[in-house]
Amino acid sequence: MAIYDDIGGRDAVAAAVSIFYEKVLADDLLAPFFEGRDMGRQQAHMRAFLAAALGGPDVYAGRDMAAAHSDLRISGPVFDRVVDLLVATLEQLDVPTDVIGVIGAKVAPLRDQIVTADVAAVS
Ligand code: HEM
Repeated sequence: MAIYDDIGGRDAVAAAVSIFYEKVLADDLLAPFFEGRDMGRQQAHMRAFLAAALGGPDVYAGRDMAAAHSDLRISGPVFDRVVDLLVATLEQLDVPTDVIGVIGAKVAPLRDQIVTADVAAVS
């Protein structure tokens, strides 16, 4: 069975995305990246992206990850903070540790596409 069904399908993914974005917007390091953006559109994209990554039916039709993030000058620590908050969100939803591991393994390779700034360039 796909992880998507395993963790509770569409509703679970939607819940995870909204809890995740609450954490992101409450984080001093990450919040500035999202200032002035349409969070509804952002959440819908993230939901579809995660669902596709987890083997669900929703098709992610957005830009590829490198193109979507190339102008943002994201550093390694910023990327890691986002992954930490994603893991914290899944833990909060009682997603089993081994499933969180599988999700983490899908997200980790995106680092090379998303990180475009070295640490010194970000204050
Ligand atoms: C962990 C892996 C990540 C995934 C799976 C992910 C996923 C996405 C998706 C699906 C979009 C929408 C793309 C589109 O417009 O079609 C997006 C946009 C965006 N992401 Fe990420 N992202 C990740 C990491 C990050 C990080 C580390 C940051 C830094 C805080 C970030 C900040 C943003 C911002 C600000 C946008 C909006 C870009 C725009 O409107 O032009 N993302 N992301």
